[in-house]
Amino acid sequence: MLVLEMTEHIPVLAGELIDVVEPRPGETVVDCTFGGGGHARLVAGLIGPEGTLIGIDRDPIAEERFEELVAEVTCHTRFIRASFEEGLRQLRDEGVVADIVYMDLGMSSMQVDTLERGFSYVYDAPLDMRMDPDQELSARDVVNDWDERQLARALKELGEERYSGQIARAIGRRRSKAPIESTQELVDVITGAIPTPARFAGGHPAKRTFQAVRIVVNDELGQLERALPYSWDILRANGRLAGISFHSLEDRRVKRFLAERATGCTCPPDFPVCVCGREPEAELLTRGTVPTPQEIAANPRAKSARLRAARKLRS
Ligand SMILES: C[S@@+](CC[C@H](N)C(=O)[O-])C[C@H]1O[C@@H](n2cnc3c(N)ncnc32)[C@H](O)[C@@H]1O
Repeated sequence: MLVLEMTEHIPVLAGELIDVVEPRPGETVVDCTFGGGGHARLVAGLIGPEGTLIGIDRDPIAEERFEELVAEVTCHTRFIRASFEEGLRQLRDEGVVADIVYMDLGMSSMQVDTLERGFSYVYDAPLDMRMDPDQELSARDVVNDWDERQLARALKELGEERYSGQIARAIGRRRSKAPIESTQELVDVITGAIPTPARFAGGHPAKRTFQAVRIVVNDELGQLERALPYSWDILRANGRLAGISFHSLEDRRVKRFLAERATGCTCPPDFPVCVCGREPEAELLTRGTVPTPQEIAANPRAKSARLRAARKLRS
């Protein structure tokens, strides 16, 4: 396995997450995106020997990291290797009740730094980008099989790529000769498709396309949409749900989900009394916490992070 250097994943907004969800001794906590266990390690220390930590991740490397954590902590532990949609649904079907559920979205440093997995546009590797290596769909399939219009739309909507049409057409031309097999081939096609000045502005020219393809391959937004209701279902009254997002498409979904639950009476303001009877199910614990400049300086990956959280008022 080609590994750039096994960087520890530095947990983003870790202190802020702990402050907002306040893990207490004996609580049951579900970490839906275990990764390298950075957040989970802090949580495990706080819930103590009576507490239970349930980790979910679809990446087998995360499962290995979970085994390492089990040897270090005193709390009860359980790992579910699955998408968080499946994992949370399974917990709900088993009747598990949680005090805290949180998600730290996107990919981990371990995934980016394992070069052969093709997440990075900086190193040449097969076009893969699957968080779950057992999944069928890979970046190679998306780049070579999606029609140009579908690709252009994904690059625009999921990557906010200004030159989405040009890039999709260039991909179409290139693959009509031979399939695009590697990250470097894709980077070359992207670089050739955009105007020269744009190659030097707005970060790496392939950054936005790679983000879009990764989101498609891992169905990141669909997973989030479908998993949030399950996470809410398994929370007990007073339970806390938190999400750390890394781009506006994720953040918008977390924000909307929590805001809908925190909304009470929706009667027009000139009604003398409430007739809708709607009461809030949630209390927002933060309206969007961002990292400090010090955290961003120490960990540039934190730059676009935003934490949202809410407390469930009743079950
Ligand atoms: C940003 S990392 C989490 C890092 C972790 N909080 C830590 O401190 O080490 C995201 C992790 O979530 C996993 N992941 C992302 N989306 C997922 C999903 N829909 N289902 C299961 N795991 C997912 C990825 O495989 C990755 O390991």
